[in-house]
Amino acid sequence: MNAQIIDGRKIAADIQNTLKEKIKKQTGIPGLAIIQAGDDEASTIYVRNKLRAAADVGIKAVLYKFPESVTEQELSALISSLNKDKNINGMIIQLPLPAHLDEEALIDSIDPEKDVDGFHPLNIGRLQNNSPQALIAATPKGILYLLENTHISLAGKNALVIGCSKIVGRPAAMMLIQKGCTVTMAHIQTKNLPELVKMADIVISACGCPEMVKGEWIKEGAVLIDVGINRLNGKLCGDIEFASAINKASYITPVPGGVGPMTVAMLLQNTYEAYLKQNQN
Ligand code: GUN
Repeated sequence: MNAQIIDGRKIAADIQNTLKEKIKKQTGIPGLAIIQAGDDEASTIYVRNKLRAAADVGIKAVLYKFPESVTEQELSALISSLNKDKNINGMIIQLPLPAHLDEEALIDSIDPEKDVDGFHPLNIGRLQNNSPQALIAATPKGILYLLENTHISLAGKNALVIGCSKIVGRPAAMMLIQKGCTVTMAHIQTKNLPELVKMADIVISACGCPEMVKGEWIKEGAVLIDVGINRLNGKLCGDIEFASAINKASYITPVPGGVGPMTVAMLLQNTYEAYLKQNQN
């Protein structure tokens, strides 16, 4: 079998074009605030991509960039003022934050209706309850969109999620359960990963270990979603050994150009949805 490649770049571009048309028809302009503390290299690239894509669809995105030494009080004061700002419909704190800052306390202080990252406990609870009010984290929302857009049936499938972060693994698992998958979560302490991969119809890997998942472990015809963005010998690669996995899978996402662009598209989608909700009479 030679897997079909799921083109996240094209699917994200289609979403963004649709959003752009919808936003043109609005009387106002959706506003997104991005808070970045420090100079993490990957964060700077992600933030740049988010700013560019927002401008392209007609969302006014504002970057609040602070030095590594920023205090929690300073960020807290900014969040309170953004919570009250009618021109700001969504806000995100780019992670990771410098270690001296209390990430949980800061996220908890964001107005849940502006939490377009879906990291606030109220939105996590809403997702758990399958509530339509939930703002859902962009990466797992993008993954589900890729699966559904590719017409991959989910009900009754064995799905393996590798990595249980709050940004990807946990919400992805919750969404797959709601679609009828039998979900297994693997993490750093999991002992029998090759056996778990061999049983999986769908593998979602978000562990950040370059090419850890070997092609020989993959079940014939499995669907592979690779969230990893790693470097190996100077080259970008995912968590899945692409060159060997492509011969076993039915569908596979590339790195780059798979899940990454979907994260950006779904952040913009969430910002638009938050804008609509905040402006309905
Ligand atoms: N860091 C890595 N992924 C993300 C994300 O989706 N949102 C934020 N805020 N930070 C991240």
